[in-house]
Amino acid sequence: MLRLRGGRKRVVLPNGSPLQLLDSVSIDVEPGEILAIIGRSGAGKSTLLHCLGLMDDFDAGDYEVDGERVDGLSDARRSALRGRTFGFVFQQFYLFEGRTALANAMAPAQHGPWSELRQARPRAIELLERFGLGDRLDSPPALLSAGEQQRVAIARALIREPRYVLADEPTGSLDVETGAAVLRALIEACREGRRALVVVTHDEAVARLADRRYRLADGSLSRV
Ligand SMILES: Nc1ncnc2c1ncn2[C@@H]1O[C@H](COP(=O)(O)OP(=O)(O)OP(=O)(O)O)[C@@H](O)[C@H]1O
Ligand SMILES: [Mg+2]
Repeated sequence: MLRLRGGRKRVVLPNGSPLQLLDSVSIDVEPGEILAIIGRSGAGKSTLLHCLGLMDDFDAGDYEVDGERVDGLSDARRSALRGRTFGFVFQQFYLFEGRTALANAMAPAQHGPWSELRQARPRAIELLERFGLGDRLDSPPALLSAGEQQRVAIARALIREPRYVLADEPTGSLDVETGAAVLRALIEACREGRRALVVVTHDEAVARLADRRYRLADGSLSRV
């Protein structure tokens, strides 16, 4: 389980003024739960997700990932923990431009053991098919629509079978109908594997599919 108590995060804007983005945020995420986080643009949702996924650090607070305290871990242990624990769908996708959809979806498995890498190809094909990209395996991102790139990013987030999937507006580039279908497929993939999903969204319909909903505003998270 993920257990955060009193998470704080402050950034300094280029003009020098400080901005307290997270001010004592507490949240528990149990295996298999689907949580939605909503909040206005600039509220700090992506920042919170990056900190939860160990891509950024809280300034203060206690954060435990499956019983392991995260502060004080060496960079190497932290990145190993991140790689085997979290799958991330970034708001800006961050796909490799020079690689096909299939190679992008498989990419995180390179960081795992050989046995995992061997499984990665059939698993990536299965995931891409599940997200409606079975005939786009060889297409690089430049030849994919934004919504297709987003679906490749979702397949990539699932490739290492993470216990926690953190998804930052995973349906933001999709039309309402495709967005709902992709989200249903993502939720189903998470429920099947008892993976928890924390999804940031502006979409009320997406939020309604979650087990619990939170709003991030003025640096704190409240249940809605
Ligand atoms: N490293 C940083 N340095 C300075 N300012 C930052 C930094 N990271 C984020 N910010 C600012 O903090 C605010 C919160 O950013 P964040 O991306 O977390 O918001 P968000 O809730 O995800 O917004 P959106 O819904 O538009 O994606 C923004 O106003 C952003 O400009
Ligand atoms: Mg964001």
